[in-house]
Amino acid sequence: ARDTYDTDVIIVGSGPAGGSAALLLATYGVRTLLVTKYGWLANTPRSHITNQRTMEVLRDLDVESEALAVGTPNELMGDTVLCTSLVGDEIGRIRAWGSGPASATEFGASSPCRHVDLPQNYLEPILVSNAAARGAKVRFDTEFLSLTQDDDGVAALLKDRVRGDEFTVRARYMIGADGGRSAVVEQLGLPLDGQMGKAGSMNVVFKADLSRYVAHRPSVLYWVLQPGAETGGIGMGLVRMVRPWNEWLLVWGYDIEQPPPDVDDATARAIVRDLVGVPDLPVEITSTSLWTVNHSYATTYSSGRVYCAGDAVHRHPPSNGLGSNTSVQDAYNLAWKLAMVVRGEAGPGLLDTYSAERAPVGRQIVERANLSRDQFGPIFQALGVAETCTEETLKKGVEAIRATTLEGAGLRRKLKEAVQLKNYEFNAHGVEMNQRYTSDAVIPDGSPDEVFEHDAELFHQPTTRPGAKLPHAWLVDRDGRRISTLDVVGKGVFTLITGLSGSVWAEAADACAKSLGIGLDAVRIGDEGARDAYGEWSRVSGVPEDGALLVRPDGHIAWRARAGAASSEAALEELLDALRSVLDR
Ligand code: FDA
Repeated sequence: ARDTYDTDVIIVGSGPAGGSAALLLATYGVRTLLVTKYGWLANTPRSHITNQRTMEVLRDLDVESEALAVGTPNELMGDTVLCTSLVGDEIGRIRAWGSGPASATEFGASSPCRHVDLPQNYLEPILVSNAAARGAKVRFDTEFLSLTQDDDGVAALLKDRVRGDEFTVRARYMIGADGGRSAVVEQLGLPLDGQMGKAGSMNVVFKADLSRYVAHRPSVLYWVLQPGAETGGIGMGLVRMVRPWNEWLLVWGYDIEQPPPDVDDATARAIVRDLVGVPDLPVEITSTSLWTVNHSYATTYSSGRVYCAGDAVHRHPPSNGLGSNTSVQDAYNLAWKLAMVVRGEAGPGLLDTYSAERAPVGRQIVERANLSRDQFGPIFQALGVAETCTEETLKKGVEAIRATTLEGAGLRRKLKEAVQLKNYEFNAHGVEMNQRYTSDAVIPDGSPDEVFEHDAELFHQPTTRPGAKLPHAWLVDRDGRRISTLDVVGKGVFTLITGLSGSVWAEAADACAKSLGIGLDAVRIGDEGARDAYGEWSRVSGVPEDGALLVRPDGHIAWRARAGAASSEAALEELLDALRSVLDR
């Protein structure tokens, strides 16, 4: 039957969601066709914050080094400044993306990877070129027009934008990764909650050497409070580094109730000069565009054989830098499921778990990003410019927080608290790392509900409870080199993790792999090749040495045994049951 399909999976869109889906499926050996509307990938920087979880995905895909080679390293990302202009008064600073002393320790312990700044026009070529090199078919200038589906497959009507004609491709499954104005989502009629077009924003991409204003306080983000900063936009004016320190992207708001502004080069240059604070600054405008702040998410990500991912199903402002990260992570959840179902290793029910697992995450990040945007308000209040922000009130506000009086002390405390609140945008480690899945592809182990010891949005809580991501711990390999627990899982297969005294589980895993015909590795932590030399694993494993964890190809824990097996037979039966249940067999 395979030959009656033109491809197994057709992906619409080559952004972070579609590009990573293509790379994942190609890596897993699935026939994949990626179609995308334009002649090339993203031509502007767009999303950029690439968090640890996404870097872990890229590491699993063996492209982490490419991302590190073109991204701006963590060391240059974090000294986030709030100011009245780049040459003006500093209102406060916040060490972002895990770069402050306390959070550096916490973030560092959580992952083998660090945050990197990787603008979308650098990320996409890594995803798509590797996808093509690994066998995905990639078709540019190809527009998705419509789809029909039946019990066996999906037919996509496409337009060749070079020749101008239309043609049909038939696939077993489709991924709709066609962004915030998704035609696929619209045609499927997926339910969307929330509101589109809440506020107006403009991006100005420009070149200017700003080294003398920023290199001593290196950051990706310089937030600028000026009259007008309260209108539209993402909470304040923003000067964002694209390349240190001569390529930039500025974000400024406009009133969505008014007709969209006409931003010509002169207007754009004037806004840049205002935010930098240098009236005759040499500036080269690269491009300008208008966009709106959205607060919208799909409550179901799929219909029939079509699965949607990325901005198609979650639309939100760039606050917290979650757009491209969540898109890559959607694909990471979906790709192995599609691969196993296409190969006949899992039943179709496995695919239902995609929406069950990812829709709650999508909703959470949409809410978080929108709340972060609103949480600039207390800074305006502390400065007394919440009602009216003019040159005059702002100047007064800055003077007031410098006053050598008790009143000044009170305002300073208020301002410090307001700045600290922005940790929920710039150090929301829990939002990034604490995603927990509940679905038929996760088997609860009867342990009590999880209690978060610290703020669940700010702090990562590693756990091996089913549904959580496998915690990172450093191990030592055969050559004495450090490897992460994350390095012994993934690669498109399941992994059974146990300890040296858990051999029955490892043997059961080998038997299950044979009897189910699936990829299932067994790793005994403690063996040569995966020694717990630092004792890190035993501190986070959550199971005794003779217990076991079944880790899915996406690094999430499907099942765990919190005690040793009674016998080889019992181990085999228990593990086989777990796998059958997870894989819908
Ligand atoms: P994405 O929008 O990246 O990709 C959609 C893909 O589908 C594109 O390849 C498109 O060509 C294709 N497509 C659409 N319709 C199609 C059709 N009918 N047929 C075929 N192909 C079709 N985020 C952020 O954090 N900071 C920022 O500064 C910005 N700035 C920004 C600027 C602009 C101009 C945009 C459009 C977006 C941003 N974003 C952003 C948002 C960020 O880009 C977004 O969250 C991610 O790119 C989402 O990735 P996706 O892959 O889901 O969609």
